[in-house]
Amino acid sequence: NEGSLWGARFSGGPSPELARLSRSTHFDWQLASYDLAGSRAHAKALAAAGYLDADELPRMLDALAALGAAVESGEIIAEESDEDVHGALERHLIAIAGPELGGKLRAGRSRNDQIATLIRLYLLDHGRAISHLLVQLVDAIAAQADAHPAAVMPGRTHLQHAQPVLLAHHLLAHAWPLVRDLERLRDWSVRASASPYGSGALAGSSLRLDPALVASELGLAGPSENSIDATASRDVVAEFAFILSMVGVNLSRFAEEIILWNTREFDFVTLDDGYSTGSSIMPQKKNPDIAELARGKAGRLIGNLSGLLATLKGLPLAYNRDLQEDKEPVFDSVVTLEVLLPAFTGMVATLRFNTERMAELAPQGFSLATDVAEWLVKQRVPFREAHEISGALVAFCERHGMELHEPSDEEYAAIDARLTGGVRAVLSVEGAISSRDGVGGTAPVRVAEQLAQLTERIRAL
Ligand code: ARG
Repeated sequence: NEGSLWGARFSGGPSPELARLSRSTHFDWQLASYDLAGSRAHAKALAAAGYLDADELPRMLDALAALGAAVESGEIIAEESDEDVHGALERHLIAIAGPELGGKLRAGRSRNDQIATLIRLYLLDHGRAISHLLVQLVDAIAAQADAHPAAVMPGRTHLQHAQPVLLAHHLLAHAWPLVRDLERLRDWSVRASASPYGSGALAGSSLRLDPALVASELGLAGPSENSIDATASRDVVAEFAFILSMVGVNLSRFAEEIILWNTREFDFVTLDDGYSTGSSIMPQKKNPDIAELARGKAGRLIGNLSGLLATLKGLPLAYNRDLQEDKEPVFDSVVTLEVLLPAFTGMVATLRFNTERMAELAPQGFSLATDVAEWLVKQRVPFREAHEISGALVAFCERHGMELHEPSDEEYAAIDARLTGGVRAVLSVEGAISSRDGVGGTAPVRVAEQLAQLTERIRAL
């Protein structure tokens, strides 16, 4: 059982079946650079506590640097016999530095506190990368809103025409959830910046190594408060997986609208050729595959989160090997978004809006009926009656195939004496939109204001 981290009390090596089940190098090898960063920090803590002397520390750091370069170049890889990235790297370190020096590094640490730290380092790095990609998407949405300050569209509830809104207002409604996701990542990173290194297997170390030194070497805020919690908990991983799922769900809702808008029936958008696909049999097809993949991958992101939570739910404290199952789902969520976001951003940035078609549909479906009711309220009609009068007007127009502004003054009066020709003044899409000028409303001044706020919030991240 040579080369194993734990062979001495065993009579032989693990059975091949166990070794195959146990092995994690095919996915945890991507933590190699973080493992080496942990080792460098740990070596410094060992030296500070007197366990490596003045010439041993530089030799250790040189060996770790050589190991890092060999991992980087692909010269060193994990072997069949390596259980995990920690063991594989230690084996190579001993080969480079010799058993005497190489064998000193493991003092005062356990794979349990190592892995709990490394996953945080990995997630913090990828959290930054994903934040960067999200900012680019928010910028692309904001640029589309900025490019269409006056375009109008039918606003919908229940997918039915409800009230007309500005296209820019609707687009920004897809940007704000992503801004909150960015803020979630920022808030999460505070919790993720605790360093489990020094917690040992679960109970801490007796060697008086300085965990604050290790934390600061790793760019983390400080040591974890409780060594049992630090090695046993993965809520930081689950929270990250949640945020990535939330991003996926937010993209999916936008994607669903783009898919609808791209249909012949809606005809609101044209997708750029570079961001849509054709059919192998139907030459006329131009398919919104990026949006559909976004919608599909949201399911995958949710699955990764659910799987991880299910893994955690019954675990007693402290470390259990089940915790090794935290990595693949969250690695998958990271890769999924790192590939999806740039494509999604490209699709959004190159969308062309058929603003004429949107403007034509904006007043249809009696979407100005609320404006009739609110006009009556301004004439001091109680809202309950105003709602009934405008409802009666809608019914009348529906029967006669008219729009709300089309009945004659006599026909208005027959519905209710308080309904006069004066109401036609508010029966325009532009009038309806600019009258909704409360905070967060669809009036152009308000939308311009929220676009500025959005930019501000992104800058403050
Ligand atoms: N590979 C493990 C993980 O990913 C860390 C090793 C801890 N193993 C152990 N037997 N204590 O969680």
